[in-house]
Amino acid sequence: MSNSPFLSVCTADIIRNAAAALKAGHLVAFPTETVYGLGADARNPIAVKRIYEVKGRPSDHPLIVHISSINQLGNWATEIPDYAIELGRNFWPGPMTLILKRKDLAGDFITGGQDTVALRVPSDPIALALIKEFEKISNSAIAAPSANRFGQVSPTSSSDVYEELGEYLSDSDIVLNGGNSIIGIESTIIDCTGKQPRILRPGFITLEQLEARLDSPIVEQLVSTTLRFSGAFEKHYAPKCKIILSDQIWKGAGFLALKEIATPGDMIRLASPESNEEFARILYSTFREADRKRLDLLVVRPPKSEGIGIAIIERLSKASLGR
Ligand code: TXA
Ligand code: MG
Repeated sequence: MSNSPFLSVCTADIIRNAAAALKAGHLVAFPTETVYGLGADARNPIAVKRIYEVKGRPSDHPLIVHISSINQLGNWATEIPDYAIELGRNFWPGPMTLILKRKDLAGDFITGGQDTVALRVPSDPIALALIKEFEKISNSAIAAPSANRFGQVSPTSSSDVYEELGEYLSDSDIVLNGGNSIIGIESTIIDCTGKQPRILRPGFITLEQLEARLDSPIVEQLVSTTLRFSGAFEKHYAPKCKIILSDQIWKGAGFLALKEIATPGDMIRLASPESNEEFARILYSTFREADRKRLDLLVVRPPKSEGIGIAIIERLSKASLGR
């Protein structure tokens, strides 16, 4: 990928150009508030196939369709329960993905052959502008997984996207630069195909926040038996170095903990987040930093398992599984 544009200021022209590239069947990596996505026209099976090739992802793993507002929901989904509308009204645009019964527009090549589709309205202004512009010229939406190789760490900056995918992208593909993702971990995924919502992947929007806005209680169940959900049964979000969650001293290892926890002797402090929100924001860039420093081991003291801490611990657990 020699001279693909590395776009640092997303002007209206650049957004139009990127939307046109999507329409022509090319890939556009774009910032979102959670992590960067690798986008393609959600109605173009050939373009979507390239997402799987570039990511090295098995083709039965479904993608999230990114839409510009809750008004587009009915194009892609059917049998939408009232609570899903309530969730959309309260938390979109934002870091939340809803799983709903699909309409025909959501093809097998998006859903991995399942009868459900994942939908999200991101809040990042560049993402929203791109989706709106693309909807305008195509009557479609943007299918996008996180812009990393399968099983690797999700990118939270455009240079991370290059590091992950640069050698697999073509000259006609585009990577938009929107700075660092402000949330830093992937969206909360909620299954809305049952009587009550179920969290399939914890994220920035927590169970407590969801329940506070809903009449009916949430039933949290991370590992689903009937829905295929890639993050739920494989090592994921993982850097090359080994990650362990430990209280012990490991001489020469990298160390990540909240600021209030002092660095144990002979360990290399990589980050000192002051809150769980900051912990989430710097988590993946710290994984990348550990690899850049060629550390064999990164020792993490996880935050308390409450609020967004639950999502951080889920990512840490998957990242620490043996390869
Ligand atoms: O924050 C995010 O969600 C980011 C940004 C780019 O939007 N996207 C993201 O996509 O994390 P991805 O593909 O890396 O993770 C989406 C997860 C996968 O684990 C996939 O299996 C699950 O969503 N998923 C997609 N469609 C589904 C469906 N119909 N039923 C169950 N799980 C689904
Ligand atoms: Mg991913």
